[in-house]
Amino acid sequence: MKTKILSTTKSDIAKAASIIREGGLVAFPTETVYGLGADALNADAVASVYAAKGRPSDNPMIVHIARASDMGRLTPMLSADIVALIENFWPGPLTMVVKKKPEVPDRTTGGLDTVAVRMPDSRAALDLITMADTPIAAPSANISGSPSPTRAKDVIADMDGRIDAIIEGEDCRVGIESTVVDMTGDVPTILRPGIITAENLEAALGKEVKYDEALLESGKFFALDPEDGAADIDDFKPKSPGMKYKHYAPKAQMTIIEGQRDKVKSEIERVKMLNERLGLKVGVILFEEKAFIEAAHDFFARLRDLDNEGVDLILAGALSDTDGVGFAVMNRMLKSAGYNIAKV
Ligand code: TXA
Ligand code: MG
Repeated sequence: MKTKILSTTKSDIAKAASIIREGGLVAFPTETVYGLGADALNADAVASVYAAKGRPSDNPMIVHIARASDMGRLTPMLSADIVALIENFWPGPLTMVVKKKPEVPDRTTGGLDTVAVRMPDSRAALDLITMADTPIAAPSANISGSPSPTRAKDVIADMDGRIDAIIEGEDCRVGIESTVVDMTGDVPTILRPGIITAENLEAALGKEVKYDEALLESGKFFALDPEDGAADIDDFKPKSPGMKYKHYAPKAQMTIIEGQRDKVKSEIERVKMLNERLGLKVGVILFEEKAFIEAAHDFFARLRDLDNEGVDLILAGALSDTDGVGFAVMNRMLKSAGYNIAKV
């Protein structure tokens, strides 16, 4: 398939919108990561997204809208909490899981009776949704399993020849995917951490917001000796199907080094030299202490750059943060490394 490379001009976005309306696939920029969009209400179009990504078809997608009033097309009921989060965080990197209307195809939601919705904070994305005049289902625009794309060139590397068009926009401002919060229970529950934290949501709602157990489970990996064998991803019983897959993995072997900062630095140096002496190519990801926003912005791009340089091994310094933006980046780092973590 010949993939059209489009710009963010109104006339190019109009072309992209007509592709969506006709059931085609368009990759587009958002503030978090690039999305691979299809008409969310067209089951066949949505099915072709799964095929282009090579993703297991039980993994539900996020539906993107451009106006809060479009919520009415997707869900039968808006609680006061949902309205408060819309007012505080949309457009922005927050996805809400809500009850779905029957009009939303099972293909889009992976057969669940809920739908995940967000309004992206990106002019190109909002124009695309508005001109297509339909909600757009969009997972991240990467081949399933590889790092999420935060730059147009990353999308082209994965998707050229597999989809109808790619809108080339700016690099993504946030760099990790949206926070996903389940609004269907008594206590709002974060299923995927992002730059909007539980604390941010609590401040807006004036009530408790939890992280899902499975996320905290993954946090426990810090406390475990890797030899315990407890770092077994199959032990997860996640609510959000996206949690259980090995994700974002670079081609290189990847290990996270966790511990006190000076020790982490010297362990990374030690392992790097050891491996380089034996002819291996080693890449290092070590962010400034507490520079979590920057880490979020750079993490996926670094993984892709290191793969492009052909490194054999990536050594990454763990970020120490239990509930904020650093925790959200660690969630991705752990999945990228297949929960391969060494304590020093
Ligand atoms: O920032 C983002 O959210 C990006 C951009 C493109 O908007 N999109 C994205 O989509 O990350 P994706 O498909 O890669 O991740 C969707 C996540 C998965 O973890 C999935 O399991 C969860 O949202 N999800 C979707 N619908 C759900 C539902 N009804 N209930 C629970 N989790 C759901
Ligand atoms: Mg993804």
